[in-house]
Amino acid sequence: MQRFSHLFSPLTMGNAHLNNRIIMAPLTRLRAIEPGDVPGPFAAEYYAQRAEAGLIITEATQISFQAKGYAGAPGLHTDEQQAAWAKIVAAVHAKGGKIAVQLWHTGLVSHSSLQPEERAPISASAVTGLHVRTSLRNAQGQTYRAETTPPREATIQDINNVVADYAAATRRAREAGFDFIEIHAAHGYLLSQFWAEVINHRTDGYGGNREKRAKLMLEVIDACVAAWDKNHIGIRISPLGAFNGVDFGYHEDDTVWLAAQINLRGIAYLHLSEPDWAGGKPLTPAFRQRLRETFQQAIITAGGYTAEKAEQVIEAGYADAVAFGRAFIGNPDLVNRFAIGAPLQHFNEATCYGGGAEGYTDYPTWPSKQTDQ
Ligand code: PHB
Repeated sequence: MQRFSHLFSPLTMGNAHLNNRIIMAPLTRLRAIEPGDVPGPFAAEYYAQRAEAGLIITEATQISFQAKGYAGAPGLHTDEQQAAWAKIVAAVHAKGGKIAVQLWHTGLVSHSSLQPEERAPISASAVTGLHVRTSLRNAQGQTYRAETTPPREATIQDINNVVADYAAATRRAREAGFDFIEIHAAHGYLLSQFWAEVINHRTDGYGGNREKRAKLMLEVIDACVAAWDKNHIGIRISPLGAFNGVDFGYHEDDTVWLAAQINLRGIAYLHLSEPDWAGGKPLTPAFRQRLRETFQQAIITAGGYTAEKAEQVIEAGYADAVAFGRAFIGNPDLVNRFAIGAPLQHFNEATCYGGGAEGYTDYPTWPSKQTDQ
């Protein structure tokens, strides 16, 4: 008998049929080739090893050179990047998997050394004193942590470019064969910066009340839907959390309102990154219920889940699928390990970011495989 009957039941999301509800969460691994931000030589193998997931969501991927905030993060805005992603998608599909690309603009979580013409990164406002950190590469190509450089306030032209760049990256994702794009509106990156009162001090149409602070995010959704269609679009938000050194406050009502606006677009899924992932308070059952009642398509949730807890949250009806991040780093065969009750392997933090195959494609699978029963 199947151990986790909910986790292992299929799910139709948008037009796609997922074999199970165990999702690989987006994981930044910083192994892209520079210059050019092209996915690295081991990425196809890395993702294909994890193709048993109901859906793989890739590492966060830039929509433009300006969107870059971490040395070694890939993009999907040049032909070379698109060709590399197409090979990755083909490798996952060849193993029967499904794959979404997570598209981001990091906004102020960046460094002028990564920016075109070494300009200041953009954000909603030119906030200072946040002490946010990012990752850079040294002359030997090794990843190290560094404080971000102060942002400038995005102009209307910058904002229009962000919307257009999201649409262009969505078209490239469709051409590369992806099953979905996921808009990264979580964790204090650009769309989350516009949404956050602590960062957005604008007095134009993109700042002020919640309608205005959500305007950019909703324009991006609409542009992505227009560039592909609603069934291939998802979005990730991180309600109620503190991320990247900034406390975004506790606004349940605003989050439910935002979920309702997203729901109006009819997109395939809403992906929640829960606050306890980053040390915040867990979501309450009442709040989960409000989100469930508000958003009619699939809900994916994530944040330090075990298989048992995931099974419960699906059984309770709060989510349709659960994404696992760190567990997928050290366990390429996480799905099979859940199925047979095998122990999980911890991953090595020293080889998480940057580098090559070590700590990336060399994690072993469990000796035995689930047998059909
Ligand atoms: C990270 O590199 O730690 C990271 C990147 C993107 C996220 C969250 C964390 O959304």
